[in-house]
Amino acid sequence: METTDTLQTEHNAVLYVLDQLEQATSAAGGGQPVPADFFTDVGEFFRVFVDQCHHGKEETVLFPRLSDVRLRQMLEAEHNQGRQLAKAYAAAVDAYVPGDAASAAAVQRAASEYATRLREHIARETDRLLPVVEKELAADDNDLAEAFERIETERIGAGTHERLHGMIETLPGRVAPFLAAPVASR
Ligand SMILES: [Fe+2]
Ligand SMILES: [Fe+2]
Repeated sequence: METTDTLQTEHNAVLYVLDQLEQATSAAGGGQPVPADFFTDVGEFFRVFVDQCHHGKEETVLFPRLSDVRLRQMLEAEHNQGRQLAKAYAAAVDAYVPGDAASAAAVQRAASEYATRLREHIARETDRLLPVVEKELAADDNDLAEAFERIETERIGAGTHERLHGMIETLPGRVAPFLAAPVASR
């Protein structure tokens, strides 16, 4: 089903970014001067791709169609919590100075809290939301896919989704110089 394929692709992109981010925050926390734009780019990804685009699709298009109201309320509450944690992450990044241990530790903590919650949320959707969509909304697949497209164009602007997918691809190369070199064996 196109609808669930799209959501799964987006979930995979999110999980990929969280992994890259945690490598970078752990390097920064260890004293490496990871440039601030790595963390601000990831912050934009959280705000635009995750919240406006992905959560927007789920909240606007899918959740109102769910028969399980309690599941809907739980997932919406998790989105709200994610928004707060993304803000806390952005605030920590604002105060971040490359090479400064205390501000790097604050970014690391905020990123880790956000990543933990978001991974749990994605796991819950994989277990409980996607199967329900496949079961209850299969006949609406075309309508849902069109509604998703509209959200991308209207809320984040044509091309933004693709631009952010492109940004993701730059992350491993940008963190690589700061990852610990393997310890030489004696
Ligand atoms: Fe969600
Ligand atoms: Fe999701």
